[in-house]
Amino acid sequence: MTDFRSVEGKIAVITGATSGIGREIAKTFAANGMKVVIGGRNPERGAKVVDDIVRNGGEATFVQGDVRNEEDVKKLVATAVEKYGKLHVMVNNAGVTPALKALHEYDLAEFNRITESNYTAVFTGTKYAVQAMLDTGSRDCSIINIASASGLKATECFGLYDGSKHAVVGLTKSCALDYAKHDITVNAICPGVIDTEIFANAPKEVREINMKAVPIGRFGRPEEISYMALFLASDLARFMTGSIVTVDGGYTGGDQNNMPWQTPDPRDLSDLKAE
Ligand SMILES: NC(=O)c1ccc[n+]([C@@H]2O[C@H](COP(=O)([O-])OP(=O)(O)OC[C@H]3O[C@@H](n4cnc5c(N)ncnc54)[C@H](OP(=O)(O)O)[C@@H]3O)[C@@H](O)[C@H]2O)c1
Repeated sequence: MTDFRSVEGKIAVITGATSGIGREIAKTFAANGMKVVIGGRNPERGAKVVDDIVRNGGEATFVQGDVRNEEDVKKLVATAVEKYGKLHVMVNNAGVTPALKALHEYDLAEFNRITESNYTAVFTGTKYAVQAMLDTGSRDCSIINIASASGLKATECFGLYDGSKHAVVGLTKSCALDYAKHDITVNAICPGVIDTEIFANAPKEVREINMKAVPIGRFGRPEEISYMALFLASDLARFMTGSIVTVDGGYTGGDQNNMPWQTPDPRDLSDLKAE
């Protein structure tokens, strides 16, 4: 089968699906026939995502909870198993960004908040999802971790976030080996700058700086991450595990050429015409 019909009827849990990337993953999964159980702290936004999905003919359940709380993560996974008797896909997506600071300026409380939200939650989410997948004899399972381009490339004054996302990348590779023989693939998606609530209040200049760093020259859209998640959840990706997939408009591909004294400027491609 070379389309996405293999995901029809699969059961998926998505953390942090009340906005941004997680919400789009939930919507894309549901639109392709998956039954989704979504998490988040904000019940109004959670209910709205469920409404949108149901109105479009899909099936979704919201479970309120904080991914920093192990019992809440357990409950989220348990809800999927109680309701459907199987679990095929776990998307560890919830995450937060800290204010920009040099490392010594953060206190331990902020380090713990970022680490627990972005990294510890990937551990608990994976732990309870894998156990549920094994206990229910679910087949063709996938763990999909939403890491970041910051899991591959550092940015100054972003140490807590960079560290948490590098940790997610390492955990993904290691877990892939643990479950390779158990029909569970484990992969990470590393988004670049994506136009979500994280950037909602960013000043115009900040948006411009970010766009300049992206070779494709724009922010990504949250649904562009959901398409990769759909692929990883499908049977088309069963030979992929331990992969760290960038969806970042070229951001981590390399750096701009810094030899502007060369003429003609190699960046001036305006004369090139498509054949
Ligand atoms: N946007 C980007 O440019 C970008 C780039 C690379 C990676 N990412 C990663 O992509 C993921 C999603 O980010 P986004 O851009 O979609 O951000 P977003 O729009 O702010 O969404 C974050 C989601 O995570 C949930 N969340 C945060 N802390 C939580 C907690 N303690 N417990 C439960 N849910 C929590 C939020 O829900 P509630 O508020 O309802 O709890 C929300 O649904 C994150 O892991 C982020 O690091 C984003």
